[in-house]
Amino acid sequence: MERKFIMDTSGKTITCRAAIAWKTGSTLAIEEVQVDPPKAREVRIKMISTGICGTDDHAVKGLLSVNFPFIPGHEGAGIVESIGEGVSSVKPGDKVLTLAIPQCRECSSCLHPKGNFCEKQDVLPSSGLMLDKTSRFTCKGKKIYHSFRASTFTEYTVVPEIAVAKIDAAAPMDKVSIISCEVSTGYGAAVNSAKVTRGSTCVVFGLGGVGSAIVMGCKASGASRIIGVDINEEKFPRARALGVTDCLNPRNLKKPVQQVVMEMTRVGVDFAFEAIGLSDTMIAAWDSCHRSYGVCLMVGVASSNSQLSLNAPDIISGRTLKGVCLGDYKTRDCIPQLVTDYLQNKINIDPLITHQLPFDQLHKAFELYHAGKTIRCILLF
Ligand SMILES: NC(=O)c1ccc[n+]([C@@H]2O[C@H](COP(=O)([O-])OP(=O)(O)OC[C@H]3O[C@@H](n4cnc5c(N)ncnc54)[C@H](O)[C@@H]3O)[C@@H](O)[C@H]2O)c1
Ligand SMILES: [Zn+2]
Ligand SMILES: [Zn+2]
Repeated sequence: MERKFIMDTSGKTITCRAAIAWKTGSTLAIEEVQVDPPKAREVRIKMISTGICGTDDHAVKGLLSVNFPFIPGHEGAGIVESIGEGVSSVKPGDKVLTLAIPQCRECSSCLHPKGNFCEKQDVLPSSGLMLDKTSRFTCKGKKIYHSFRASTFTEYTVVPEIAVAKIDAAAPMDKVSIISCEVSTGYGAAVNSAKVTRGSTCVVFGLGGVGSAIVMGCKASGASRIIGVDINEEKFPRARALGVTDCLNPRNLKKPVQQVVMEMTRVGVDFAFEAIGLSDTMIAAWDSCHRSYGVCLMVGVASSNSQLSLNAPDIISGRTLKGVCLGDYKTRDCIPQLVTDYLQNKINIDPLITHQLPFDQLHKAFELYHAGKTIRCILLF
């Protein structure tokens, strides 16, 4: 009889490879790290794939309030390796997604029907520590911080149980990582948060990963006109294929882009989305909306301490300004359904994935990202 030996790592520290951002703006270094076993109500995950999200780039560059050194990444798919005491929603062997916004089901946000920004999140601001204020990562004897209690640029990670979404066992793990952030954020911003209406006009600022998923959501909702704005025209052909009807490069316009959008639509758009993270483009998105009934969704994460300055008297005209995180989904309840929707061909995430590279080609992946060549690059472990 053939016997299979599976090394039992539960309860033990695991030594594996991870990418570390040692200091602000430095190139990520692939290092050997020690990953502690999960404590009570924590889960240790063997990562299978992780996407590179714009937020990771912001964090590595030091634009967000995060502690260094840390292991970046939050858009991840993996398999539960072991669980801490009291974990009941997942077990070893389960396929899961990591969630940058947890769902504790107990706090004011979780208990409110519309809330999704769980009070136990670690994005704004980011302590880089687990809920008990300690870290599970060590490298060369030094404590390494977590990223949004997700840290997916590592072969193994530890996350709180409330930040884990169990997904369909049939999910293709080399792809579904992007559902943990890019797809839920962008598609959800259009479909779930803005609830884009049939025949409406939309403008999407930023046609990267998240902006492309927003376009998909606008198209699926039956928008009749979708204006896409980006300074990188290489993004335009793919955006058109996803449903963008008009592409604008603000650098080639003689007037402010919001004025051009106003002229194109005569009255302003029904729905505007900002998926870049700059206050200038946030204002341009706001100013592109219909004054009375336009809805402006802020999806981009702005750098820490930046301010947004709006013309105060104009506020009364009726427009809605709304921030949105992970598509307003109650993450553990709703994000697994997006995976099932993908398996049932109700949504197609494939056009959002332009590159897949092995984890050790992380630097190449970031080069492609910075050169504006990727929509989403997925790293495979
Ligand atoms: N709210 C959320 O839940 C959430 C989730 C994920 C990402 N984000 C944020 O969304 C934003 C986009 O993330 P992404 O992963 O799509 O990043 P990305 O880098 O793939 O996309 C950004 C796009 O913006 C374009 N761009 C940059 N500067 C511009 C300018 N001045 N005018 C027009 N276009 C410009 C770039 O060319 C690129 O195509 C980031 O700020 C990220 O932090 C928010
Ligand atoms: Zn993200
Ligand atoms: Zn909560």
